[in-house]
Amino acid sequence: MPLMNGREVLYFTGNSLGLQPKTTQDYILRELEDWASFGVEGHFHARMPWYSYQDFLTDQIAEILGAKPVEVVAMNSLTANLHLLLVSFYRPSKERYKIICEYDAFPSDLYALQSQAKYHGFGEDAVIYLRPREGEYLLREEDVIAAIQREKDSLATVMLGAVNYYTGQFFDLAKISKAAHEAGATAGFNLAHAAGNVILKLHDWDVDYACFCSYKYLNAGPGSVSGIFVHERFANDKNLPRFAGWWGNDPDTRFTMPRDFVPAKGARSWQVSNAPVFLMAALKASLDIFTEAGLSNLRKKSEQLTGYLEFIINDINDQAMKKGEEKPVEIITSSDPGKRGCQLSLIIMKHGKGFHRKLIDQGVIVDWREPDVLRAAPVPLYNSFEDVYRFGKILQNSV
Ligand SMILES: Cc1ncc(COP(=O)(O)O)c(C=O)c1O
Repeated sequence: MPLMNGREVLYFTGNSLGLQPKTTQDYILRELEDWASFGVEGHFHARMPWYSYQDFLTDQIAEILGAKPVEVVAMNSLTANLHLLLVSFYRPSKERYKIICEYDAFPSDLYALQSQAKYHGFGEDAVIYLRPREGEYLLREEDVIAAIQREKDSLATVMLGAVNYYTGQFFDLAKISKAAHEAGATAGFNLAHAAGNVILKLHDWDVDYACFCSYKYLNAGPGSVSGIFVHERFANDKNLPRFAGWWGNDPDTRFTMPRDFVPAKGARSWQVSNAPVFLMAALKASLDIFTEAGLSNLRKKSEQLTGYLEFIINDINDQAMKKGEEKPVEIITSSDPGKRGCQLSLIIMKHGKGFHRKLIDQGVIVDWREPDVLRAAPVPLYNSFEDVYRFGKILQNSV
């Protein structure tokens, strides 16, 4: 159990900010030492030369995303990356200009999509928001596909949160990408809540573009570096428009200071600026732990942990209902492990936002998302079954 302000807590907010690996300080310290020792020469002579720092992360990121190394790169921050990807993959015309997203997508995604449509001169009808059916919390996959088919003559791109931040719903990215392609549109996903949480196979699922952050399940620290996926079929497409910067230029000629941009192969050509080494060092510390633990092992434990939390909550509900009381907790996340990551989104029936504070006061760190959801994410790297059991006891005594 982590200590926070000297107090032991049950930490279930890896969906917001992952905990710090014990090795992070050493990884960052190494770069501070190399900076002190080498100055500018560190770009080529640091133990992990900064000129190539992003490349030290590529294979491990590719594994986490189910991608080929050429398809991924760490760079910038999340919403900035979404904009950069939309510049290339949202190429609207007068006839084909619409974007499909979730109604309850994370606001930053909504702002990015709305402002991109506006930037291209389109009005409010450009963004189509998919809502769950009346009385339901989750989007039905058949409704997503039907919306794509319905908009097939006007759709430019589909951009969903691969795992929705609010409901914890994990979409079928392959099915949605296929439908988008059949409609003549591109398919992109925000992996903020998916990377390091669920098993992804972006290459095989034929996703066009995606961005991820590293401060949630990838434990790289607040505001840490983000990254992108661009499918291999665009790796050599020099004509695909992009907002270029010198770090996206072919690294072999970058320092010859060419006047004309020569894109590096693959996702790396979307880089704009030189690598934020301290942030990347923090990400490297975490990726090494993922490699050691093994993605499939983590996912196996994750399914068991979340299944255990679900079991405990169902038991709390059963006991209350046996006493003739109303069900105190509604789990809005799917009960199918294949349709969720580790997070369960809960509606605590008789309580509002104050309930969240009540849990925190009892040492349970969960978070609250307006209007009415409590999110709890047991993370396999650092949460135990005992954590979940103790949370269950506190929940039972508080609802
Ligand atoms: C789905 C999603 N999109 C966007 C963001 C915003 O990310 P950033 O502030 O790193 O751009 C978040 C942050 O939690 C998120 O969960």
